[in-house]
Amino acid sequence: MKNEKLNISDSDKNDFCKEIEGYLETIFMGRDIRYFDSIESTNKLAKEIASSLDEGTIFLAEEQTLGKGRMGREWISPRGKGIWMTIVLKPQIEPSKVSRITQIGAAAVYSGLEKIGIRTKIKWPNDILINKKKVGGLLTEMSGDLNRVEYVIMGIGLNVNLDREDFPDILKDKATSIKIEKGKKINRQKVIGSILNEFENYYMNFKEDEDLEGVIDILRSNSILIGNEIKLIDGSKEEKGIALDINPDGSLLVEFKEGRKSIYSGEVSIRGIDGYI
Ligand code: BTN
Repeated sequence: MKNEKLNISDSDKNDFCKEIEGYLETIFMGRDIRYFDSIESTNKLAKEIASSLDEGTIFLAEEQTLGKGRMGREWISPRGKGIWMTIVLKPQIEPSKVSRITQIGAAAVYSGLEKIGIRTKIKWPNDILINKKKVGGLLTEMSGDLNRVEYVIMGIGLNVNLDREDFPDILKDKATSIKIEKGKKINRQKVIGSILNEFENYYMNFKEDEDLEGVIDILRSNSILIGNEIKLIDGSKEEKGIALDINPDGSLLVEFKEGRKSIYSGEVSIRGIDGYI
């Protein structure tokens, strides 16, 4: 597919994109919007053409037919009800630091929602929760070699206006939407604008001098894990411990039987009323 065909020119930009622009206070984040009615996955397409795009370009879809979640899972993305968005980034950082972009994204989703009166919790490393159920998740992917990042794409999935029946039975106890929890429909364009404003701010600080302080403060103060018993799942291995803190580098500090360890990646479950959720 040719690039130009994927871009919407100013004249035929739809009202949805125009409204988002009205909320933007950014210099480059979200200033080039590639909008799709239906697409397999915004991450998938962004990855295919990211090399030729400017930093801050975003992909948005009303519906994803093959939305991707972490660990190869499917991400339910029904039409017109959520935010299915991917941001193209070109940070000059070592590949080992790419996970920090996810932390910046999680903080930006938190703050973007908080600014418009929606309080959430963050489940390290990439989940956004309301009332202990997942409303959003981030999927960061990259291209580069051992020493250099060519681009990073950060996918954000946010269940904004989904109804209960939009979730398959198996997810009904674990996933929710802002509409279900708040009892009212939310303007997606406003949410997108607010998240992008926050994201640019945190991302610029990080690019300038790798400063993550504000981001870590947000992750720490709004963490659902800190102080709780957790189960860390790493491949086929499971380990129980107590989550103690988010370290300045964005890793999770956990107290295990054998002592304290910083965790850089993996899947975490938290002990709830009915076992681990
Ligand atoms: C997770 O498993 O929690 C991450 C979910 C990420 C979903 C988003 S929706 C937009 C982008 N495109 C995809 O296919 N996935 C991400």
